[in-house]
Amino acid sequence: MKYFYYITILTVLFYSCSTDCTIKPGQIWADNNNVHINAHGGGILKYNGLYYWFGEHKADTTSSAYVGVTCYSSKDLVNWTDLGTALKVSDEPGNEIEKGCILERPKVLYNSLTNKFVMYFHLELKGQDYSAARYGVAVSENPEGPYKFLYSCRADAEKYPCDFTAEDIAALDTLNPDNYRDWWTDKWFKAIEQGLFLKRDFKGGQMSRDMTLFLDDDGKAYHIFSSEDNLTLHIAELTDDFTAHSGWYVRVAPGGQNEAPAIFKKDGTYWLITSGCTGWAPNAARMFSAKKIFGPWSQHPNPCVGEGADTTFGAQSTFVLPYKDGFIFMADIWRPNHPSDARYVWLPIEFSDGKPVLKWREQWNLNE
Ligand code: GAL
Repeated sequence: MKYFYYITILTVLFYSCSTDCTIKPGQIWADNNNVHINAHGGGILKYNGLYYWFGEHKADTTSSAYVGVTCYSSKDLVNWTDLGTALKVSDEPGNEIEKGCILERPKVLYNSLTNKFVMYFHLELKGQDYSAARYGVAVSENPEGPYKFLYSCRADAEKYPCDFTAEDIAALDTLNPDNYRDWWTDKWFKAIEQGLFLKRDFKGGQMSRDMTLFLDDDGKAYHIFSSEDNLTLHIAELTDDFTAHSGWYVRVAPGGQNEAPAIFKKDGTYWLITSGCTGWAPNAARMFSAKKIFGPWSQHPNPCVGEGADTTFGAQSTFVLPYKDGFIFMADIWRPNHPSDARYVWLPIEFSDGKPVLKWREQWNLNE
């Protein structure tokens, strides 16, 4: 019992911030080399007493990938050590992750069955702008890498969403793209909801852009991504080793134009925070909740309140990190003209009437 007590105290101390625990959203965040952290659109893995922050390395003049996925580690979430490049882009011409490709929003999970670390990211092939709309998968023996690129593809080819009924599938047959040439009309939205683009991409696989990963308490993991021309989110279950989709997936908010998904679970409720689709320009966050990961999902108002709420304080969601008894919302203030200077916004998630609320803070303390 005594040992249990000491171990608990030590664990709490180890995972808590004990030096300068101030987070300064939107400011330069220096690493151990006194260089602004370069891990954009990132996510955090907690493993073996350390936090690992993975993100996009961004150059000074382009958002395309010339380095790869960076990794930093920290004991306290404030002081970060640069561990270098976890997944390197390739020098080989024609390689799927060739230098100059677009590689965004990497996230990593630890798989306890295989003892491996599995990374997913959004991949656009070099020279093809944002048309490939694929996800990539890479694995490593160590959290910080090196990660070995496995493959990239579109999602769930020849699979219907698992909640599609026989009627839903039959209705798809009646959708003739020639009848929906005009976008954004009521008629077109209805067809999108029914699966106009799902049907279009059924054979080749569904589009997969902005993304995150989520590990549930039952050990099942999910890939959540913007699909169907960024109109509809998909939540896809992963196989037991996490290296592929199992084929089970649902669509969330069809036609709602959500991207930048960030998810967390509190007291049995899943909360999903997203953005609208305005490229590098910020917009108002959206929020959804569900009692089961495969839905039904219902929409709530923007969780941001106060000045700057209508632009998510100038940022776009990327991840939610459980910390102590609460959660930290992580977002990016993009700087498309100077991508490496993009800033990080970390805010504590507050709750009001059981619903997440985000308020701007010039600075805050992790121990508060
Ligand atoms: C954003 C997206 C970013 C990046 C950007 C490109 O909407 O969230 O990850 O893809 O568009 O314009």
